[in-house]
Amino acid sequence: MKKPIRKAVLPVAGLGTRFLPATKAIPKEMLTVVDRPILQHVVDEAREAGIEHFIFVTGRNKGVIEDHFDSSYELEDTLKRRGKAVEYAALMADLPAPGATSFTRQQAPLGLGHAVWCAREIVGDEPFAVLLPDMVTKSGPRGGRCLVQCVEAYDQHGGNVMAVEEVPPQETHQYGIVAVGRDDGHTFEITGMVEKPKPGSAPSNLIITGRYILQPEIFQILELVEKGAGGEVQLTDGMIQLARTQSFHGVRFDGRTYDCGSRLGFLSANIAFALDRSDLAPGLKEALRSFGFVSKGV
Ligand code: UTP
Repeated sequence: MKKPIRKAVLPVAGLGTRFLPATKAIPKEMLTVVDRPILQHVVDEAREAGIEHFIFVTGRNKGVIEDHFDSSYELEDTLKRRGKAVEYAALMADLPAPGATSFTRQQAPLGLGHAVWCAREIVGDEPFAVLLPDMVTKSGPRGGRCLVQCVEAYDQHGGNVMAVEEVPPQETHQYGIVAVGRDDGHTFEITGMVEKPKPGSAPSNLIITGRYILQPEIFQILELVEKGAGGEVQLTDGMIQLARTQSFHGVRFDGRTYDCGSRLGFLSANIAFALDRSDLAPGLKEALRSFGFVSKGV
């Protein structure tokens, strides 16, 4: 019997150096895609996948994240007194249940692997999800955002699971790449992983995109793993060791992923999510036309 995936780790302790100066005083996870913080979109995705407990690995200057997932008495009271029932209901719907969030600190940004390891005591001895909170996803034809499809793959295969996406072969050296074994088209067995392979040496053009289901044995490995690329403790290096004893499967996510840690991904996400909104799409299309963009559907 597979243990259900109840807990998710959201590492939010990075410095966001690719997005300066915006991220000097504001955590990049709190920048907004339309009118919701990037991190709220990611928590929405985790909730959709059935996650019940959200573990945020934070750092200094990230206190506003904890405030965002708490109630805001003055604001709620004012909305109620002014009869803003819709706005009040929306705030309440986003509020996590009491006790459904935990916050722990990564004292220094020593890498994603180290950030995940910082959550070990709160996760305990059960499989869990990891969501990189600067990636936001939109569901594709199969339905469900990316973590939903990962949980479905876990229900099918068990073990460890991660989402992947195709990139042009000349870009593989920038990412973690997987090697493909037995393959049913949507999910496949992962027979190898490599972090930032030398140009021309990648085993495929499938990159690891930031949604994982991991078994708790990863924590003992991360405790001992040496610093890797960029002088950081890499999650991929830990997963390579875990793959010696446990199965890993990849999920070809059929929706769209936006890397909101990069300026272009962030801008693209804002346009894509706004075009989905009936209150914003007509005005935005008009604005895009006025900039000289005339393309299919806009
Ligand atoms: P990134 O490398 O994309 O985030 O890590 P970063 O370090 O904040 O960004 P840049 O590259 O300097 O612009 C992916 C996720 O892992 C978290 C980040 O907060 C981000 O959400 N992370 C990364 C940590 O929590 N701790 C770390 O030591 C590194």
